[in-house]
Amino acid sequence: MDRWAGRVALVTGASMGIGAALCKELVKRGMKVVACARTESKLKALADELEGEKGEVHPFAMDVSKDEQVVAAFEFVKEKLGGVDVCVANAGMAVGGTILESFVGGTSPEEKPAATYRYKSLHDPILLLYFSLPIGGKPNDWRAQLDVNLTGTLHCAQLAIKGMLERGVDDGQVILIGSALGYQATKHPELHFYSLTKCALKASATALRRELLAKKSRIRVSNVSPGYVDTEFASRAIGIPSQAMRAKLNEISMEPLQVQDVVDAIIHTLSTPPRVQVHDLLFLPTDEDY
Ligand SMILES: NC(=O)c1ccc[n+]([C@@H]2O[C@H](COP(=O)([O-])OP(=O)(O)OC[C@H]3O[C@@H](n4cnc5c(N)ncnc54)[C@H](OP(=O)(O)O)[C@@H]3O)[C@@H](O)[C@H]2O)c1
Repeated sequence: MDRWAGRVALVTGASMGIGAALCKELVKRGMKVVACARTESKLKALADELEGEKGEVHPFAMDVSKDEQVVAAFEFVKEKLGGVDVCVANAGMAVGGTILESFVGGTSPEEKPAATYRYKSLHDPILLLYFSLPIGGKPNDWRAQLDVNLTGTLHCAQLAIKGMLERGVDDGQVILIGSALGYQATKHPELHFYSLTKCALKASATALRRELLAKKSRIRVSNVSPGYVDTEFASRAIGIPSQAMRAKLNEISMEPLQVQDVVDAIIHTLSTPPRVQVHDLLFLPTDEDY
């Protein structure tokens, strides 16, 4: 990791969860980190917290699904810091919903028992919590997930690589935060569309590597694919309190991954020598039924 000290990393989804933890680690290791997300107050709090550490944090509020805001973020980095050496495209979101059904479980009390029965048979903590929620396959929700998880993420990767090529940065690194659900359509039906966006992201890493190889560039592109991580992500996706989610995980004795486990995987990916390109790192909680 020493070779990255003093160099510039742009991290999306930096306001909380995996992204915020990663920013802290990179700054402690001496990197200049441009921390991006929509919630400016959280980015500023992160910068305040890291004041006086070895590296620097530069908060930049942006929505990865808004083209002009992504372009502005990369222009900011170019003007202020010269350009991006490492891009961790981590921002992501999920909207629960099967593809075929508009409402699974339904919202009325009469509909709940049947749905509860159905999901109990799956022994799945996330699905058990879904049963009372209106979750539907809505094209608008699909577009929103595609805009963030695929298009916005690839837009960041594209601009990062473009800048590296222009500046002759041949050891640059792009890390796409995928998911264990990005290996095939997940067995959790309510996360099918989210899973499909992560499958496409995994394929995108291969496409980018091929395009870079054709240019004889040694810029590396990696996918990091964790299973269930203890963040607000799933609660946000299905709109239930995170304490309820944790209680359910305890009940079935599933110990989720911690954000530091994902940070460690990213640090490992960055630490490999330039001759090594990590294509994908897949890891899950030991107790997760995959
Ligand atoms: N948690 C898990 O179980 C899990 C498992 C596998 C993979 N992942 C992946 O890991 C990544 C990070 O997830 P997490 O668990 O850390 O989730 P999280 O705690 O919900 O954080 C998500 C981050 O993404 C940002 N974000 C969401 N939409 C955005 C947008 N349109 N533009 C810019 N930023 C946006 C959020 O910030 P703002 O709301 O401030 O914009 C937040 O900083 C995601 O790509 C997720 O798919 C998570």
